[in-house]
Amino acid sequence: MQPRTRLAALALAAALGTAACGGGSGAEPVDPGAMDLSPEAAAGESVYVLRCTACHGADLTGASGPALGPGSSAAGRSLDTLRAVIAGGATGMPAWEGELSAAEIDGLVTFLAEVQGR
Ligand code: HEC
Repeated sequence: MQPRTRLAALALAAALGTAACGGGSGAEPVDPGAMDLSPEAAAGESVYVLRCTACHGADLTGASGPALGPGSSAAGRSLDTLRAVIAGGATGMPAWEGELSAAEIDGLVTFLAEVQGR
């Protein structure tokens, strides 16, 4: 194969790979357990694994709920907005205020921020 052809094949494979994940949202899968997280984010991860993976996926690419990882729409929203949705809920998304402590919700927001690379 000529180098140019090989490059084009690689680009096509990359495009197909992106389209195949997270329902085409462009969200990239992550492995939070293998990431170097701050203590607060690691505490948030424990809550995430228990309460959130069923709808948002262990790799954060989403399931019945939207993707939350890098490249997702959620990654483009302010942390205050994410916190408000987690605390107050949305259509199909439970409200966690009362169920979780303020510190646990803060930990979840820090976890999402670090996983999203901000
Ligand atoms: C029963 C399923 C379900 C569970 C459990 C759940 N979510 Fe959700 N979540 C949703 C759905 C559905 C939406 C989309 C709501 C909408 O579009 O209005 C959502 C939206 C969100 C958003 C906003 C995403 C965006 O793009 O703005 C965040 C942040 C979020 N969830 C975090 C969490 C966290 C953290 C937990 C665990 C504490 C959790 N969710 C548990 C279903 C769920």
